[in-house]
Amino acid sequence: MRKVFLTRKIPQTPLHELQKICDLKYNDLDRNLTQEEIIEQAEDCKILFCLLGDKIDQRVIDALPKLQGIVNYAVGYNNIDIAYATQRGIAVTNTPGVLTETTADLAWALIFSVARRVVEADQLTRSGNFKGWAPELLLGGDIHGKTLGIVGAGRIGKAVAKRAVGFNMKLLYTSRNSQMDLPNSEKVELDYLLQNADFISLHVPLTEQTRHLIAAREFEMMKSSTFLINTARGAVVKEADLLAALQNKQIAGAGLDVYEEEPRLISGLNKLSNVVLLPHVGSGTLETRDEMGMICINNIKAILAGELPPDLVNTDVKK
Ligand code: DGY
Repeated sequence: MRKVFLTRKIPQTPLHELQKICDLKYNDLDRNLTQEEIIEQAEDCKILFCLLGDKIDQRVIDALPKLQGIVNYAVGYNNIDIAYATQRGIAVTNTPGVLTETTADLAWALIFSVARRVVEADQLTRSGNFKGWAPELLLGGDIHGKTLGIVGAGRIGKAVAKRAVGFNMKLLYTSRNSQMDLPNSEKVELDYLLQNADFISLHVPLTEQTRHLIAAREFEMMKSSTFLINTARGAVVKEADLLAALQNKQIAGAGLDVYEEEPRLISGLNKLSNVVLLPHVGSGTLETRDEMGMICINNIKAILAGELPPDLVNTDVKK
C-alpha cells in the first residue's frame, strides 16, 4: 500500500473504493485546506488527490519530495503549475468526459433562471407578495427561437449547444479546431458572436490566452438584451467590467457559477437582481461526483503501478 493524500472528503462510494487500493489519508474537515496545511499533511505522500480550489504551485510541489502524481478532482486544471510538475516528472491527471452533460444541464439552469427571472419569482412568491396573476408581473425574455453563442465548442460547449436544438435556437460558436454538426449552427469569430447572440455561454478553459477574454471592450459589443452565462472559470471574465456592465444595464443579465477570486465575489455583485449566483456546482450531482471519483481512482492505480494514467494532462512528462 502506498500513500495518497486527499485534500477533502469526496462522496462515500469512491472514497470506499479508494480506501481499498491505497494507504489513504484525507482531510475530513468541512472546509478546504490552506497551502500550509496541504504541505504539512501530504508530506510523505506519493499522490496528491486535490480539488480545483487547491493551488498546487511550485512551492507545494517542492515541499512534497515523494510526489509522483497530482490527481485533480476536476476537468479544469488551472489550479496546478503544470509546467513545473512536468519539469519535476510528476504526472497530472483530470476528469474529462464524465461531467460534460451535468455541467451542460447547469448552464441551461442558468439560462432559464436569468431569462425567466426564476430566482426573483421564487423570492416574491415565498415572501407572500404574490397578489394574483398580473399582465406585467416579472416579465422575462423568450429563450426559444433566440440565438445562443457558445464560446469554446469543446465537450461541454457542444453539449450545451445540443440542448438548444429542441428550443429551435440559432447557434453561433467559436472554436479553434472543432466543428459542430448541429442544425442552424455557424462557426464565427468571437466579435461576431458577441454582437449577435442573445445568450452567450462560456466554455473555454482558463489559460493565459483566455484570462479576461470577456472585458469592457467585449461588453460594449453585446446587445443590451444579452445574457452572459459562465460555468467555465471566473477569470475568463473581468469581473469588475462585468459588474459595471450589469449595473449600467449594458447587458440584460448574467448567470454565474464561477468567480474570478473564488469563493470571494466582487463587492456589489450580490446586490444586483439581474444576476443569478451559484456556488460553483456545475458538476454537482451525486452520480457525476461519484464518476469523477472513480476516474481519479483509475488514474491513481495507474500511477502507483508505474503506468501512464488514462487521463494524463501533461503528456510530455518523462515516461
Ligand atoms: C471542473 O471539473 O473543472 C468543474 O469546474 C467542476 O465543477
